[in-house]
Amino acid sequence: MAYTTRRSFMAQSTALTAALLMPGRGRAQGDLPVLRAMPATAQLAPQGYPGTEVWAYGISGPGTVPGPEIRVTAGEAVRFRLQNDLPQATAVHWHGIRIDNAMDGAAPLTQAAVVPGDHFDYDFVAPDPGTYWYHSHNRSFEQVARGLSGPLIVEDATPWAGEVGSAARDLTLVLDDWLLDSDAAIVNDRWDDLHAAAHAGRLGNTVTVNGAAWPEFSLRPSERIRLRLINTATARVMSLALPELGARLIAVDGHPVAPRSAETLVLAPAQRADVVIDAPTATEQRGALLFDPGNGQWVDIAGFLTKGDAATATTADLRALPAWPGWQAPDLTQPQDEVLVMEGGAMRGLEKATYQGRTMDFRELVSHGMAWTFNGVAHGMAEPMFSARQGRTVRMKIENRTRFAHAVHLHGHHFQVLTDPHRDIRDTVLIAPDQSAEIAFVADNPGRWMIHCHMLGHQVSGMMGWFSVA
Ligand code: C2O
Ligand code: CU
Repeated sequence: MAYTTRRSFMAQSTALTAALLMPGRGRAQGDLPVLRAMPATAQLAPQGYPGTEVWAYGISGPGTVPGPEIRVTAGEAVRFRLQNDLPQATAVHWHGIRIDNAMDGAAPLTQAAVVPGDHFDYDFVAPDPGTYWYHSHNRSFEQVARGLSGPLIVEDATPWAGEVGSAARDLTLVLDDWLLDSDAAIVNDRWDDLHAAAHAGRLGNTVTVNGAAWPEFSLRPSERIRLRLINTATARVMSLALPELGARLIAVDGHPVAPRSAETLVLAPAQRADVVIDAPTATEQRGALLFDPGNGQWVDIAGFLTKGDAATATTADLRALPAWPGWQAPDLTQPQDEVLVMEGGAMRGLEKATYQGRTMDFRELVSHGMAWTFNGVAHGMAEPMFSARQGRTVRMKIENRTRFAHAVHLHGHHFQVLTDPHRDIRDTVLIAPDQSAEIAFVADNPGRWMIHCHMLGHQVSGMMGWFSVA
């Protein structure tokens, strides 16, 4: 019998609202908005330089850098048909979302990469409010460096009342690092240069904010703004400062934290920080986002200029964001203990390691493009690093026995960093040279999940594995 109950009608209209929230989308058969990966041009270098040929995502219209911001409400569906109009196979990973395994986009583990001209349908629920991003997960060391990433914002189902100020305005700031030549073209060779990969990775020479050099944002005097900072660089750890704006951190990698000062912060590749700032009280005043290129000399990468009428100043203390509704804290009474030892790279090297089931010496590893290992295995895709029963708490000690920093990312889960003084909950943890970290998480999401360094040159040259939850 065919009739529509009010309930199912409401369910349908909720899905529709979610789709309509996505800005200016194209439509495909089956009613899926199309997320197109395609070549495009972007003005990355300052005005006066030529535009840069990039690979980029577009939803309706040309590809942009960063890709279009996708915004949904927690619990709602994200649905896209990825259309591959690139000359290379590709896949989209929804970084940080505790997602259905089949939708994780982690080629070749959870799906085959989509060949040029073909498409793949993504349809999943984004359960946890926060700041996330999406990016290519095939040849990502090249494809992300060419521009294939964009912000994914999951709003809280119940608005966060008042604490951000009357307008509760959000400003997403996507930070990226590009390796450009003097004509502003992306240096387009040696993508798998093992020399760079065995050091800090492919560091760029041009930092952009929302795809532009030194953009300026206008704020109303006294306005309280929530910045959503995302580091989409493939190698660059960003040291940032937001002086004299009362900056306070409210979330890391999408997960709420007790508010604390954030006048300076460090964002590893793939990490996010939600920071609340208060604009200066007078009009025509300037604030800036500063960046340390590594020599201790802070430079402006974006400006904030106060303009217009003052907003009602928000003096209220900043309250923490609401906790994630479905978050289960790790149970440390009887965890499953795992170890992840990272070795290799320049100035340490590898005497021997296992690659594709064979133990080989350094020369042979290098001939296969390998420079790093997880637990003695380079790029171990044949079998899982470990398996956990669904619901079990896994505690993992991650030891960095190399001379470089690494940003370790787990797919499908967030973990608590037990060695962090704030015990933050994240999906990507930065571990300094010769340091270690201990993390714990409830393995509550069934499937095969990648674990890798998010310095993407390290990932492809060995720092890659996976674990299974069943
Ligand atoms: Cu953001 Cu496996 O990646
Ligand atoms: Cu690394």
